[in-house]
Amino acid sequence: MTIYDYPEYYEAAFSFRDIQAEAMFIDQCIKKYSDIPVKSVFEVACGSAPHAKELVSKGYEYVGLDINRNMLDHAMYQNKNLNPAPKLIEADMSNFRLEQKIDFAYVMLGSLYLDSQKGMSAHFDSLSRSLKTGGLYFLDWCIQFADPMAPDARNTVFNEANGINVESKFNIRLIDPAEQMYEEIWTVKINDNGRHKKFEMIERNRAIFPQEFLLFIENRTDFEFVGWWRDWDFNQPITGNSAIARPIALIKKI
Ligand SMILES: C[S@@+](CC[C@H](N)C(=O)[O-])C[C@H]1O[C@@H](n2cnc3c(N)ncnc32)[C@H](O)[C@@H]1O
Repeated sequence: MTIYDYPEYYEAAFSFRDIQAEAMFIDQCIKKYSDIPVKSVFEVACGSAPHAKELVSKGYEYVGLDINRNMLDHAMYQNKNLNPAPKLIEADMSNFRLEQKIDFAYVMLGSLYLDSQKGMSAHFDSLSRSLKTGGLYFLDWCIQFADPMAPDARNTVFNEANGINVESKFNIRLIDPAEQMYEEIWTVKINDNGRHKKFEMIERNRAIFPQEFLLFIENRTDFEFVGWWRDWDFNQPITGNSAIARPIALIKKI
């Protein structure tokens, strides 16, 4: 069992986000950069689909994909009154097919779980098949601008939602430099209104470095790079050597 099998605890652990503001930003991003009118939005690794309600209220149709059934069931339950109802698909991000092409895609919180270059190509192939020409793919925190081994990357954070207190401790170590593979040990202590639980999750992830990402996109014939920005702010393109919080990147299907 991992925290993804307890969606309420997962949501409490990530309750630091301002979901309404993020959905508004997604909407602005579409208006500013999409070459096509956007009706459907598609979230890779959607988990409990935290932005679905806000995006549907802005007139979008929501489609989400995740590998974890519990997260999808929770997403369905949380959003059961939405109209149109969200479409939720259980699949692996490195190999999926959608029944209908979507107009915009996004992935949040660095949730690109691709452990090889082959897996990365397979994901972008799947996405390319699913996204209309002129549509955008928005990537939150997926490109490794900061040194993952820096001391401040190993930190402890506290969050609370609905009486659930969560202490998250992150510890990262390099396990294979040639493959750019890191292991992140995420220890979560839950105090759910007096009931205590502890999870320790070990996630192995391949870092995607900025110049590698640019080259990867340049070498494909189906996407072009639009830009990258720090701290979810289109006024702050990433240049130079200042601190980078929550980087976003944007590419377009051509
Ligand atoms: C950090 S959560 C992000 C959830 C949601 N997007 C959000 O913003 O809260 C990562 C999600 O990735 C999913 N996931 C992990 N590996 C996956 C894979 N190979 N394919 C699809 N989803 C995957 C997990 O089940 C989990 O729900």
